[in-house]
Amino acid sequence: MQIQLETQPFASVQADALVTYVFDKENKIEGLLGEIDSAMNGRLSSLVANGEITGKMLETLLLHFPEGIAAQKLLLVGAGKPDKFSASDLRKIAGTAVRQLKSRGAKKIVFLAREGERDPSAAQAVVEGLIAADFESDKYRSEKKNREIQSVGLAGFDASLGVDLTAAINQGKVIAESQNFARDLINEPSNKMTPRILAARAEAMAKEAGLGIEILDERRIAELKMGALIGVAQGSVEPPRVIVLRYEPVNPKPGAPVLGLVGKAVTFDTGGISIKPANNMEKMKYDMGGGATMLGAMRAIAALKPAISVIAVIPSTENMPGGRAQKPGDVQVAMSGKTIEVINTDAEGRLILADGVFYARKLGCTHLIDAATLTGAIEVALSNVHVGAFGTPREYLDEFLQSAKATGEKMWPMPIDDEYQQMIKSDIADIRNTGSGKGGGASTAAWFIKEFVDDTPWVHLDIASTCWVDEGRPWLAKGPTGVAIRSIVDFALKM
Ligand code: BES
Ligand code: ZN
Ligand code: ZN
Repeated sequence: MQIQLETQPFASVQADALVTYVFDKENKIEGLLGEIDSAMNGRLSSLVANGEITGKMLETLLLHFPEGIAAQKLLLVGAGKPDKFSASDLRKIAGTAVRQLKSRGAKKIVFLAREGERDPSAAQAVVEGLIAADFESDKYRSEKKNREIQSVGLAGFDASLGVDLTAAINQGKVIAESQNFARDLINEPSNKMTPRILAARAEAMAKEAGLGIEILDERRIAELKMGALIGVAQGSVEPPRVIVLRYEPVNPKPGAPVLGLVGKAVTFDTGGISIKPANNMEKMKYDMGGGATMLGAMRAIAALKPAISVIAVIPSTENMPGGRAQKPGDVQVAMSGKTIEVINTDAEGRLILADGVFYARKLGCTHLIDAATLTGAIEVALSNVHVGAFGTPREYLDEFLQSAKATGEKMWPMPIDDEYQQMIKSDIADIRNTGSGKGGGASTAAWFIKEFVDDTPWVHLDIASTCWVDEGRPWLAKGPTGVAIRSIVDFALKM
């Protein structure tokens, strides 16, 4: 999708569609909307007056061959109440327009921002919405729908802002394309996305983006004594990998923080010997979503160049039953030296993250963020609405949540009190990999990771219920969402 600033007056641009938005109870049609209205001889105001256009959030009205406008169609998207309006709504409006118009075969569209949304941050949100909405999961379909919006002109933005505006547009592009890059990885079935293939994809991306990369193979993993990861991987014929990516700023300041991004990349989670039921098991191809999130974030970080060093550590394996698989009751020794009683082999994500976060600290990370499709319990708590966000110290989590808010990603702070630590005490080892069965499954999982994080400032994102959606939204296709990338990149840039 090509995106460029539109310099011509929007009414005279040749395009398949001109898109703009109308607020709820917008009774005075003025400004840019007024210009459209007068070009159309007052048709717009009469549609508002007779209730055809309500302005309700994401309600749309498509007008064909609008009088006085060069574009073939005029798409009006409802924007809700103006006092509640945010960049996040603008992102959804742009996405909704793309998804509506591509299904009607539009190739070139013009998006008209209105007077209140002319600044760079609005432009960035629009671009993010446009590109994320263009993503389709049709790679393995013989007959492609070939419905792609080829070009989008951005009209109405304040061109006098010059570089600031073009930088924001570029940032939006980089972030949304990185989100789509991650979504592509997540979509791959597990026979086409093994730990080795994921590592190769990471290598190709790193080369293109200019990131340092090191892939730890099964020998190196054994040398490093990553016993928790090995325990999960030993049931599979496919060998595990740990992907390590490095971003260095041009002038690294001595003593500056080093951000570590750790992502769970289980390329298929059968549950292992504690095997999952068949129903919905195919979805467990997306159990590498946390790893893909960090790959997407690193791709964007490489282009947007924050001032701090960032290291991604992505442990990757399958979780399979088999003659060599670990069994419930087995004790594994993690890289840190802590011993773990494996009560349930399906609680494998926390095991590989245990070695992942510990290794990230070994590599010098002073601050950590992990992302993982970790627990079904987070869906019980938050449905597919919010990412569950854990972290210590609380101030560090709060700072991260600021980035989530700024980028329009819904995340909710979850408790990690010491009582949850009590629930992962083992009778025979240092800790056990599941709680005591009295609920709080997302919090006991988080505490398990914290056992290896120690006092390093840390945020843990449980994306099990938000990384993938079974139903499409007006602004986003069903399937992988690419959630958390925007927040993580924003946080790295602000750090
Ligand atoms: N990968 C799953 C979590 C998951 C569930 C992700 C649903 C996406 C959708 C994870 O490895 C898992 O199986 N967790 C168990 C832990 C339990 C055995 C303590 C769970 O949540 O049921
Ligand atoms: Zn599992
Ligand atoms: Zn899993």
